[in-house]
Amino acid sequence: MSGPMLGKRRIAVFGAGYIGLVTGACFAQLGHDVVVRDIQQERVEILRSGGVPIHEDGLASLIAENAEHLTFTLDAEEAVRDAEVVYVCVDTPSTPSGDADLSRIWQVIDTLRDARHLMAVAVKSTVPVGTGARVRAEMDRAGLEHVGYASNPEFTAEGKAVRDFMRPDRVVIGADDPETAKLIAQLHEGVDGPIAQMDVRSAEMVKLAANALLATKISFANEIATICEATGADVEQVVHAVGLDHRLGPHFMRPGVGWGGSCFPKDSRALRALAGNAGYSFQLLTSVIEVNDLQPRRAIQRLKDELGGVFHNRTVALLGVAFKPGTDDVREAPSVIIASRLLSEGADVRCWDPLVRQLGSAPWSSTTRCATPLEAMTGADAAIIVTEWPELQDVAWGEAAEIMARPLVFDGRNLLDPQRMASLGFTYMSVGRETVRGEV
Ligand code: UGA
Repeated sequence: MSGPMLGKRRIAVFGAGYIGLVTGACFAQLGHDVVVRDIQQERVEILRSGGVPIHEDGLASLIAENAEHLTFTLDAEEAVRDAEVVYVCVDTPSTPSGDADLSRIWQVIDTLRDARHLMAVAVKSTVPVGTGARVRAEMDRAGLEHVGYASNPEFTAEGKAVRDFMRPDRVVIGADDPETAKLIAQLHEGVDGPIAQMDVRSAEMVKLAANALLATKISFANEIATICEATGADVEQVVHAVGLDHRLGPHFMRPGVGWGGSCFPKDSRALRALAGNAGYSFQLLTSVIEVNDLQPRRAIQRLKDELGGVFHNRTVALLGVAFKPGTDDVREAPSVIIASRLLSEGADVRCWDPLVRQLGSAPWSSTTRCATPLEAMTGADAAIIVTEWPELQDVAWGEAAEIMARPLVFDGRNLLDPQRMASLGFTYMSVGRETVRGEV
């Protein structure tokens, strides 16, 4: 951005996770002065020394480019002191009951008690409908009646978060007073996307409903895939042609071993819990979640059958650990279920992932870490593709067939071409497509 900026504001972002860092860096890029506050000392130190603690496309360069008006701190008071707007981007993990844990949001709100100079507080964290009203009441009690409140949910997908922030399908702004709505809209000047303005509760619901519908589309495609397997249809052809209907669209219909990550699992549980707490049983969403729980288990069962019903003393190469390509995030990844199931049945698991670095805890501590897909497949009785890393398309599969104890691939993301794999001698299993068997 060049030249003086009219609507330039001082923004304090609470939370330096995926969302907070992307939000902070993008607001800085839009010309605002931003301070990002986190409670993790290590994280703040890395950021202060010019590093970026997470992998997100384009984020490191954005942070570097805007270093002049993007700072990091551990000190909440320091963050708030000069701020005009506070952005809450802390995580809201699932509790054992499936509800969202809002304790970190409350901690932020508690630190604002004396911040009478603020113009507005905006919450980006995903929260149950009604949270804003409770925060509003708490702010009123603390003497912050004059400070606006907004719900400004994020729709960024990991790996594409910077692009999604700068060129979103929509910016949802929920505010119960027009000045706050206007202020938050002004902060987004320079963002290339339409603004959908509404009341706070509706904005909170948009976020939950959007993620639930995306998860529903995937679970639907996965159920169709299962029926394709049973009837001999090819799910890739089916989904492609179904998606040509402009009313349905091609997106989020890729079958596979299920959705994971920090959002869909948590948000679908939170919406189901929200409905349940209101006395309504959200049956459709319950089924969507159940279908997804079964997806990696079905994959393991099919692979086990192919291996003669046992994993004990078998070596399985697990290709891809991250919950999707382009990220190092393993939260609620299908790979966790798959690795745990394989280990519990006595398999030796050799795993590979190009980005995920920290694999110290269970189940990964019981697996062998490999530097390349070929290393993981050396001597293996089977390989299972769990994340559709593009690198896997470029593997020398002919060589893989030679070095595996048995040329068997379960492609949990339908990444590879069945005929090609068969021509290389593989038994090739995938999701919603016929298993092909090459000549060995
Ligand atoms: C998701 C939403 O896409 C974002 O819009 C939202 O802002 C974000 O959650 C959030 O609530 O913060 P994300 O979790 O980063 O983003 O990842 P997605 O690209 O949506 O993928 C989620 C999972 O679904 C992955 O495990 C992916 O492999 C799986 N998936 C996705 C499929 O199995 N099939 C598909 O067709 C698409």
